[in-house]
Amino acid sequence: MPVFPASKIKDIADLDMLLGEMTLEEKAGQLNQPPNMLALEDADVKAGKIGSVICAFNAYAGNESHERVRAGQTNRLQRIACEEARLPIPILFARDVIHGHRTVAPIPLGQAASFSPELVEEAQAIAAFEATADGIKWAYTPMLDIARDPRWGRIAEGFGEDPYLASRLAEAAVRGLQGTNMADNDRMAACMKHFVGYGAAEGGRDYNTGEISEYTYRNLYLRPFHAAVKAGIATAMSAFIEVAGIPATCHKWILDDILREEWGFDGVVVSDWDGVGEIVHHGCAADHTEAASKALAAGLDIDMATFAYIKHLPELVRAGVISEELVDRAVRRVLLLKYRCGLFENPYTDETLGDKRMFLPENQNKALEFAKRTLVLLKNENETLPLTKPKKLGIFGTLGKATWEMFGTWCLDGQASEVVTISDAIKKEFGSDVEYMESPNPDDAISFARFVDAVIVVVGESPHRGGENNCVTDIGLPAGQLQLLKGLKRMGTPVIAVVVTGRPNDLSWLEANVDAILLAFHPGSMAGQAIAETLSGKNNPSGKLPVTFPRCVGQVPIYYNRKNTGRPLDPYAKGMTRYIDSLDSPLYEFGYGIGYSPINYSNAKLDGWKVSVDVKNEGKYAAEEIVQVYFRDEVASRSRPIKELVKFSRTTLKPGETKTVSFELKAEDLGYYGPQNTWVVEPGWFQVAIGANSLAPMFARFQVDASGAISESQVM
Ligand code: BGC
Repeated sequence: MPVFPASKIKDIADLDMLLGEMTLEEKAGQLNQPPNMLALEDADVKAGKIGSVICAFNAYAGNESHERVRAGQTNRLQRIACEEARLPIPILFARDVIHGHRTVAPIPLGQAASFSPELVEEAQAIAAFEATADGIKWAYTPMLDIARDPRWGRIAEGFGEDPYLASRLAEAAVRGLQGTNMADNDRMAACMKHFVGYGAAEGGRDYNTGEISEYTYRNLYLRPFHAAVKAGIATAMSAFIEVAGIPATCHKWILDDILREEWGFDGVVVSDWDGVGEIVHHGCAADHTEAASKALAAGLDIDMATFAYIKHLPELVRAGVISEELVDRAVRRVLLLKYRCGLFENPYTDETLGDKRMFLPENQNKALEFAKRTLVLLKNENETLPLTKPKKLGIFGTLGKATWEMFGTWCLDGQASEVVTISDAIKKEFGSDVEYMESPNPDDAISFARFVDAVIVVVGESPHRGGENNCVTDIGLPAGQLQLLKGLKRMGTPVIAVVVTGRPNDLSWLEANVDAILLAFHPGSMAGQAIAETLSGKNNPSGKLPVTFPRCVGQVPIYYNRKNTGRPLDPYAKGMTRYIDSLDSPLYEFGYGIGYSPINYSNAKLDGWKVSVDVKNEGKYAAEEIVQVYFRDEVASRSRPIKELVKFSRTTLKPGETKTVSFELKAEDLGYYGPQNTWVVEPGWFQVAIGANSLAPMFARFQVDASGAISESQVM
């Protein structure tokens, strides 16, 4: 029996009483996070050796669906921890609930294409609502790694290349998961990962080294994480990558100096899977004992899946290598997290909730609305789309009949049987008056193409070509898909390519040759209906690219917020920064995406700090337009990008309607981490652009004085 009941922990101050009762072994237990809940020994739970559990059955969770966790299972273990152990300390159950639990939202890269913090918040609230019913109280999301390299498979898991967009969506994800009180039975602790710099892996090869200056670190990679901390995120996961020769898992400057001292984060830092063990592979510790002492000293609280803390921390303290205060510091944070999650008060999950909360019709509808807003129309020649009154349609391509593939990478709990395929959804949407020709065989498809009004070709990538540990050197479409498209094009029938993918692919041939391209970053459970309703025109696509699409892999890394350089880019001049065998511009710019109605931008104005523009829907379809504001700091003590996103919003426009969309800027929006590594707005001239994508031209300049006021402005 416990020495006192869990319910006695009523106040944060009581946590110290609990800590005071703990043996060294029990303390190490709180910092230990084994995987595979079903393989745990009851005796270990009873001995207080299991502080938290990662509910994954192997290290490849990102690439596989996993057995569902049941509240009955978590409750059983919880009962041992809270009622049979010497000290009543609840277990925290964690899982990779990345972009949905049973109701699967679009992958984060797709979520970012919606430019909608509201939808991200709503989707994460649904994820928390479902996952908590299965006993999970800690989700390893959001993934906030800025990524500029489409070769890196994990680009799918993040919010794209822009730190401002990623920051706004990071805050939204925190609100959605944690709500105002993580203890609520439909909210959970969020975990920002991977802290930090993982997206900079050289060559786009997962787990590789990356070289980042402190300047780029602060101005790019750290920003979404800082936003999440300000939004109150409860936990962080350290990255696999090393930073300047030190693995992030044991990097004091990152975990303690920046995260805790500078930003005031008081939550828990967990390692990535076997991150502590990997310190040895990095060549920064001789064995797990040394790795454990280095990681703990650097500020890493929980050891996921290495078992180095549980095995070695007690002996390290007894040998005087590390102080017990260091262990206590980490344990206190873990207890505080559990307290904030309400686990001391209510460690158990209501076992009747599970099935009542999964894949509810209203949540399917929300996922459908979200999926629709993540679709990006890249090309639509001769108004090929929407398909109005077709008589005969061909539906071809490898992903037309796909199910679980629509979930994208990192989906453990989505049910393939709940996904309506794109092909079935199209047939439902267009009805039985239309004749459909289908074949999995490319040669049949090509011969059928002669007999139909248009072919819809669903190409792209299986999640197995992206995500963790799935990196490529060729970002073109997978084998055979281009040949199929080329053959179909030869038949003279309009070709509509629906590209379902997890990364920016090289779509150069498609852009030059097919009639329409609809891009869908793996859109989740409701992919089929979202795509079908878009092809029919019931939905007017409104997503915009959160990441640059290169013309070819040789342009990588390529991103919109680049520097001017000493020899600015000029496609025709000699001696300037450019390629000789390719245009320098990307195929599709960051922020790009069209719809079925042309949207006209006019009358851009700068009035004090207010930037505005008139947007007119010149077509016959109701539209949602994402208006974007960019700025440029003309002269600063450090070179600044040629443009930086600073505001965005979604506006609805009825056919023929004009709206004035305006934004209030503030001096502090124009800052950056300057020479002292602090956020500064240096007085001087700035430029501003407002438009439909990152190609919007700068239309005004304004001077900001030392007091942060605008002293002068001019139209450009
Ligand atoms: C991934 C993390 C994930 C963890 C736990 C690691 O391999 O990098 O993103 O949260 O596994 O499954």
